[in-house]
Amino acid sequence: MQRTLTIIKPDAVRAGNAGNILAHLQKEGFRVIAMRQTQLSEAQAKAFYAVHAERPFYGELVEFMTSGPVIPAALEREDAVSKLREVMGATNSKEAAAGTVRNLYGTDIQNNAIHGSDSPENAAIEVAFFFPTCELV
Ligand code: RTP
Ligand code: MG
Repeated sequence: MQRTLTIIKPDAVRAGNAGNILAHLQKEGFRVIAMRQTQLSEAQAKAFYAVHAERPFYGELVEFMTSGPVIPAALEREDAVSKLREVMGATNSKEAAAGTVRNLYGTDIQNNAIHGSDSPENAAIEVAFFFPTCELV
């Protein structure tokens, strides 16, 4: 069994789509092992997406991710990392395959409803970013 980290992003929380997205993930076989709602500070958003610090969209990304509440959740499933990326769809919601979370609930390349870890190594780092081990149940 593998773990991964998702974040329901501010656009999706704002639009009232968090419940639908969680149901979608559960139907795909993900078990929620930790979850909470929070609003990221600028420092937290910068740290979480530090890998993109040199990218031209970094400033806008940090502004977006701090624009409202987010719902980080740790998920468990077989092949959780790659399966979540598949269920999420392409980064640009306009190019995401039909039936994927970003196709259903995202708007564009930035307002794309959901985050998913991109490797098992980063999943471990990202789960630990939001949840202490004692809260994973
Ligand atoms: P995520 O990390 O959130 O799961 O998204 P991802 O792997 O599909 O895409 P990534 O390249 O890691 O980009 C992180 C987030 O930055 C925003 N973005 N904006 N304006 C732009 O060109 C642009 N490109 C990316 C998106 O919110 C993307 O999910
Ligand atoms: Mg990414």
